[in-house]
Amino acid sequence: MRLGLGTGSTAKHFVELLGERVRAGLDVAGVPTSEATRADAVRCGIPLTTLEDIDRLDLTVDGADEIDPALNLIKGGGGALLREKIVAAASDRMIVIADGSKFVGVLGRFPLPIEVIPFGLAATRRAIDKAFAKTGVSGQMVVRNGKDGHVFVTDDGHWIVDAHLGQIGNAPQLANLLTSIPGVVEHGLFIGLASAAMLAGPEGIRVIERS
Ligand code: A5P
Repeated sequence: MRLGLGTGSTAKHFVELLGERVRAGLDVAGVPTSEATRADAVRCGIPLTTLEDIDRLDLTVDGADEIDPALNLIKGGGGALLREKIVAAASDRMIVIADGSKFVGVLGRFPLPIEVIPFGLAATRRAIDKAFAKTGVSGQMVVRNGKDGHVFVTDDGHWIVDAHLGQIGNAPQLANLLTSIPGVVEHGLFIGLASAAMLAGPEGIRVIERS
């Protein structure tokens, strides 16, 4: 299989377990969704490929920050949302693996990551605010800092604005509005991309499939 390899602490477990299977003879090639996952995959001995060398991926396995009952997601808490969305969109299936506490009735408790170009950021923020108003949401926007206290820079050289919205009543509408803003490179709303979610909790694993 050709696999998209997700990013984050949950996806890291998947990459390590996949590495064990590869060392036992499993024949796969992976496309990592971040430089961190690339390094993990190389360390685990997983053969890598690129979206230049193959047409489609069979499956992507990735984590998420929030999952709603329609399997819409918020992603990007780890800052890899752009490559994650490119890889998920190039995959026949996407399976989300997550802690059951990430399953919510309505998206938005987790701050929505929006990847932006630093140039003209004030204008971009004003346009984002207008998109929020049109969708009936509001909240503070904060430019994300890294652990070193400096502005967090993504693998592709962009910044991230985290929007604290509380509840996003119409996530597909907000996703479309954000996508059309110059200066927004990508946002963390993954609409209609996940095929299934596997949620782990004290009572075991719950699988939710797209109907
Ligand atoms: C990375 O940018 C994110 O989209 C992660 O997939 C998401 O933040 C989940 O990460 P954890 O598994 O570490 O919670």
